[in-house]
Amino acid sequence: MVAVPNIKLSSGYDMPQVGFGLWKVDNAVAADTVYEAIKAGYRLFDGAADYGNEVECGQGVARAIADGLVKREELFIVSKLWNTFHDGERVEPIVRKQLADWGLEYFDLYLIHFPVALEYVDPAVRYPPGWHYEGDEIRPSKATIQETWTAMEGLVAAGLSKSIGISNFQAQLIYDLLRYAKIRPATLQIEHHPYLVQQELLNLAKREGIAVTAYSSFGPASFLEFNMQHAVKLTPLIQDDTIKSIAAKYNRDPSQVLLRWATQRGLAIIPKSTRPALISSNLASIEFDLSEEDIAKISAFNRGIRFNQPSNYFPTELLWIFG
Ligand SMILES: NC(=O)c1ccc[n+]([C@@H]2O[C@H](COP(=O)([O-])OP(=O)(O)OC[C@H]3O[C@@H](n4cnc5c(N)ncnc54)[C@H](OP(=O)(O)O)[C@@H]3O)[C@@H](O)[C@H]2O)c1
Repeated sequence: MVAVPNIKLSSGYDMPQVGFGLWKVDNAVAADTVYEAIKAGYRLFDGAADYGNEVECGQGVARAIADGLVKREELFIVSKLWNTFHDGERVEPIVRKQLADWGLEYFDLYLIHFPVALEYVDPAVRYPPGWHYEGDEIRPSKATIQETWTAMEGLVAAGLSKSIGISNFQAQLIYDLLRYAKIRPATLQIEHHPYLVQQELLNLAKREGIAVTAYSSFGPASFLEFNMQHAVKLTPLIQDDTIKSIAAKYNRDPSQVLLRWATQRGLAIIPKSTRPALISSNLASIEFDLSEEDIAKISAFNRGIRFNQPSNYFPTELLWIFG
């Protein structure tokens, strides 16, 4: 079994540095995928209301526990608050629904998915609600991040999540949040790959004791299926000559080099794959070390290219979140 190091969170809990991402894992295979990933040695699972597969992922967890593969307390389950549930009074009820979907009593970590509040959509009407209120209409809600964060702190008090954190936040909003937070965010989850290195944001997180989790570690790979033109036009990182030559030097796969580059920079990673060989290979990326020189060579890829933002998915005049 691969020995995965832990990252100590400001909440006092340990978080595995390598986990498994659940975005775009089809409902039909989600339970088996989670079960097999637990068998392969994964303990952290990164879910979200928005992924629409929490019921099936929970079934995979339940089966693994029933079969004695793992105990609940050995797992680290992460979920996220969708934008339409930012109003203070909506937070706890939706977390209770998400916990029921998973079949769990608590999350290990619960994140604000995006720093943008949208008008509430009743889960009985549509779930997950997505970005649009109806048709192509985007409707903001009046909730501030302070209102939402205060409700997130209530989750810890109620025992519904051990730790709380944020995702897709940038420096200015983090500085603001830290002024009023009674519980500081334990983690920040961000898009991070050699084309988007985000060094200053990482410096801030380090200084403030916020652990960082990288998502979309393979860069454009995850966005090809949306036919994003800037993703399609770029050389896939795992086919890049420099990455390939570094991989050959260590007798590893290019994908493992990309993941190890992130973990050696101190980040946690949550790669997603539904292919068994890659599921194992991604976990095993923690088992070798790149030289400082090679880490610097990969960091020099930085081009500030971001894929995961609303304006890349649909035309919007309202959601320039990373502007
Ligand atoms: N907070 C947020 O806003 C946010 C946004 C995006 C993602 N996330 C989280 O981060 C997780 C990971 O990000 P992601 O799903 O965008 O991307 P990812 O893990 O970087 O990449 C997934 C893509 O790469 C392929 N892949 C996986 N391992 C590979 C390997 N070893 N070699 C070659 N190809 C490989 C997968 O294909 P196959 O599946 O076909 O193998 C899939 O197409 C998500 O699942 C989600 O949990 C969070």
